[in-house]
Amino acid sequence: MKSNITKVVIIGAGAVGATTAYSLVVKGIAAEVVLVDINKEKAQGEVWDIQHSIDFQNRNVRIKVGDYKECGDADIVVITASAPMDGETNRLMMLEKTATIIRNIIPPVMESGFDGIFVVVSNPVDVMAYLVKELSGLPKNRVIGTGTILETARLKQKIGEIMGMDPSSIDACVLGEHGDTMMIPWSHVRAGGKNFLEILSDNRDMLQEVDIDSIVQQTKRAGYYVLKSKGNTQYGIAGAVTGIVAAILGNENKLYAVSAYLEGEYGIEGIYLGVPAILNRDGIKDIGVFNLNEEEKEQLIHSADIIRNSIERL
Ligand code: 2OP
Repeated sequence: MKSNITKVVIIGAGAVGATTAYSLVVKGIAAEVVLVDINKEKAQGEVWDIQHSIDFQNRNVRIKVGDYKECGDADIVVITASAPMDGETNRLMMLEKTATIIRNIIPPVMESGFDGIFVVVSNPVDVMAYLVKELSGLPKNRVIGTGTILETARLKQKIGEIMGMDPSSIDACVLGEHGDTMMIPWSHVRAGGKNFLEILSDNRDMLQEVDIDSIVQQTKRAGYYVLKSKGNTQYGIAGAVTGIVAAILGNENKLYAVSAYLEGEYGIEGIYLGVPAILNRDGIKDIGVFNLNEEEKEQLIHSADIIRNSIERL
């Protein structure tokens, strides 16, 4: 049974799990945050460290170390546990190792009586969200992968920089795999209400340095650039998970690009893929379907094929 306070359990106390816990505490989004990790000492250290910040926060969020039983009355379970990227340049390389970890996590979570919403972060996230849905038996609206929310944030940041605008004032949504086959539907990218490609063609003199192919590459490779520089990514993804958790617990009907189970949307069926989705207390309330041109459709179908083939490796 759900508790009468908002409770989020985070599985995995590595950089992503710990930073997500800290971000939830700083924003005061949930009343209780629990960190679960096979390495209890690491989880305990992160919890103590975060507790030492509570005096400076806006809300006295209860944060503690726990085990899978804590999921029984949780509203949301965030899964960050994953095989390390270890210099890999493609998230799909981690598929088998991360799948083994997920197979060990989901049964005890479900045995706890968990009846909430999964937010899956572990990579390759589109494949792992599918696996979590299969193993948990929860309805599709209650298993959400972080998907292309990160690529979307990275694209909005880049365009915001070019335009001298706040990223949140840029309207964009990256679709497809959280990985190398992601695609940007440029016909739906707007800054100040105007299509970004039109802005470029109307202002060639001022924006002649801007190269669309380079923006695509930077959006696609941004995570790898961070990995190469510091060994892991954590702040972008923690921000993204915090946004998703806030949208769910606050019943916000907020639109984010996340990995959602598709049943015919975009002509794609039976897999998880990054699409615009409206998030609220039910998880995924609805999926937004953009009108894509032929080239964009082909790119998205190619991305779907890559995920479908990867699911077969499970
Ligand atoms: C990221 O893109 C590595 O998937 C992780 O930040």
